[in-house]
Amino acid sequence: MKILVTGAAGFIGSHVVARLLKEGHEVTGVDSFDIYYSRGQKEKNLMPVLLHPNFKLIEDNLTTMALVKVQKGTEAIVHLAGQPGVRGSWGSSFNRYVANNIQATQKLLEEFKGSKLKRFVYASSSSVYGDVGEILSEDMRLEPKSPYGVTKLAGEQLCQIYHQEHKMPTVALRFFSVYGPGQRPDMAFHRFCQSILHEAAISIYGDGKQIRDYTYVDDVVDVVTAALSADVAGQVVNVGGGSPATLLEAIAALEEVSGQKCPRTFLERQKGDVFSTRADTAKLEKLFGFKPKVSLKEGLAREWEWMSRFVQSEDEERSIKANVQPITDVDHAALAEFKADEKAAKKAARKEKSSRKAKSPKRKIVSEISSDAPASDPAE
Ligand code: UGA
Repeated sequence: MKILVTGAAGFIGSHVVARLLKEGHEVTGVDSFDIYYSRGQKEKNLMPVLLHPNFKLIEDNLTTMALVKVQKGTEAIVHLAGQPGVRGSWGSSFNRYVANNIQATQKLLEEFKGSKLKRFVYASSSSVYGDVGEILSEDMRLEPKSPYGVTKLAGEQLCQIYHQEHKMPTVALRFFSVYGPGQRPDMAFHRFCQSILHEAAISIYGDGKQIRDYTYVDDVVDVVTAALSADVAGQVVNVGGGSPATLLEAIAALEEVSGQKCPRTFLERQKGDVFSTRADTAKLEKLFGFKPKVSLKEGLAREWEWMSRFVQSEDEERSIKANVQPITDVDHAALAEFKADEKAAKKAARKEKSSRKAKSPKRKIVSEISSDAPASDPAE
């Protein structure tokens, strides 16, 4: 299939691209390399696929780009691009959430409606629920607690109405706290690994008893790729990893896999942070016959291994930059002599020029006006 993956350089996007290429699909990736986090990490994410003959990367912003560039022949879209981050979605940054999560989704739907698209996979989020229950199932009422959740829900509802009114083959997958190699640097496990590796205390927002249904990235990729061919048009489906744990339990697991104890700092609970997300995965199993394969401990071990390499390479890059020393051993006497010589040479050149001028005969500019010439028209 010819597949468009938006957010291709991101955490989940780069894993999806790699899998689709492995399965023999032709993939066009779009990514704006937004400054939300480092371009370097996104480039590293894409490194393994960049030269693949069936992969094409377009660096552009969905909200402003001409989609005609990617329309021809596209059979399916995996729309993962968006402005992530629950806790940063308050205040003036909300504009970015509206543009990247709502407007970009509407634009894609609008411009692909009526095309021969076989599937439009939308990356939704457990954040659309808010704190509405112990176990979150797809038919529950939705009360997002963060501006981020509001925009993800708006995108999901746009998919619904384009499915109803334009028969767009959409499916919204509600991802629950995805983790694994390549995880975004603002997310809990990435930050905790960074702290452990730099022997710093980890920061816990609130009391650490908040529950998340952690989902390993390969399990998410399994569902995304299955959604391209399964009979799921118009559906909304939870993608939960079946590994619910409190943050403190997850930290203990991370200490176990890393073999290191980490001091903890407790900070104020963050606005928009929900207390618990646990996915009801009955629908996921029914529609996809899917059960998550990777346990929290196994997934954390893989993320830890990746983070250890990632942090080492980042530290090396930083130290190379730091080793480019400013020039401090200047020979000031030699520099002063050089400047004095330069000044003298300029002075001599100026002197020579003016003496040449003085020797050459003065040119007289004579303006002769013939008395026969017609007088110019004063109106000109
Ligand atoms: C994550 C993603 O960031 C969202 O994009 C995604 O949509 C969402 O999961 C979801 O599944 O709906 P979040 O649950 O906030 O959101 O994931 P983390 O950043 O990994 O945070 C998990 C918990 O750890 C939160 O309670 C957070 O406050 C806490 N945390 C995070 C800390 O205590 N310390 C930190 O340094 C970072």
